[in-house]
Amino acid sequence: MNDTFEPVVLSFCCNWCSYAGADAAGTAKVQYPKNIHIIRLMCSGMLHPNVVIDALTNGVDGVLVCGCHPGDCHYQEGNIKAENRAEAIELMLEDFGLEPERFRLEWVSASEGPQFARIATEMVDALKEIGPNPYK
Ligand code: FES
Repeated sequence: MNDTFEPVVLSFCCNWCSYAGADAAGTAKVQYPKNIHIIRLMCSGMLHPNVVIDALTNGVDGVLVCGCHPGDCHYQEGNIKAENRAEAIELMLEDFGLEPERFRLEWVSASEGPQFARIATEMVDALKEIGPNPYK
């Protein structure tokens, strides 16, 4: 592991569950790495795969997408759409020669602050292990 490398991770969190979950982590003082930069969007299903690939091919070290648990999406099936898009993104990562650790889709509810912190920490640790994005 590279101890001096601090990965930059964009975390797209849906407004209704995951953003509130990340906020709950902060409110409860459950720490997660400062490497995580949260971008709020209304629903995980609104994130186009090109945005993820653009971020990664421009040097961002990792992208974490968080949405409501299946059945809880406020737009009914947005998270199912996100799940289908995640499969496409994983294939694109391969095409671009990027490691699978650089992208992750997770479900985090508004009450799961510790869960968000755990996922964020796991992702940052995994990225420290594989090192900087080769596109950097
Ligand atoms: Fe949260 Fe759709 S509103 S995933």
